[in-house]
Amino acid sequence: TFSNERTREIVSSHLGLEGPLLPILHAVRETFGYVPEAAVPVIAEELNLSRAEVHGVVTFYHDFNRAPHGRHVVKICRAEACQSVGVETLVAHAERSLGVSMGETSPDGRVTLEPIYCLGLCACAPAAMVDGRIIGRLDMEAIDEIVAEVDR
Ligand code: FES
Repeated sequence: TFSNERTREIVSSHLGLEGPLLPILHAVRETFGYVPEAAVPVIAEELNLSRAEVHGVVTFYHDFNRAPHGRHVVKICRAEACQSVGVETLVAHAERSLGVSMGETSPDGRVTLEPIYCLGLCACAPAAMVDGRIIGRLDMEAIDEIVAEVDR
């Protein structure tokens, strides 16, 4: 669970670095499983930045989830190559079948659905990542399989 003290420790162990903010945010995410809203003022204070600056970086990078993830994390690529082969239809199907919107975690904590912007798998678009496993040539059936998998 989040603690100010632990956050301060993380910050001070990165202070020697040039441009410590990103490494600090990664470490915070690794420690707590997400970047808690409450960590922002602590980091800002320690680094002499404004809260808005830290908040801006947290929201700019999609890697920094601001709430705890579900037990399963499904990321669907919404970047250009995947868009061009109709990923939005699959996104809509996934949202309906999983019962969560993009960027949300189901209330039972079962699954988080998130957009991602290029998995480097454009040649096999549309692409997704399920619990760290990359899946290419995504279609409706593949979505159904993913839904069944996270239901277990
Ligand atoms: Fe989707 Fe590259 S655009 S994998």
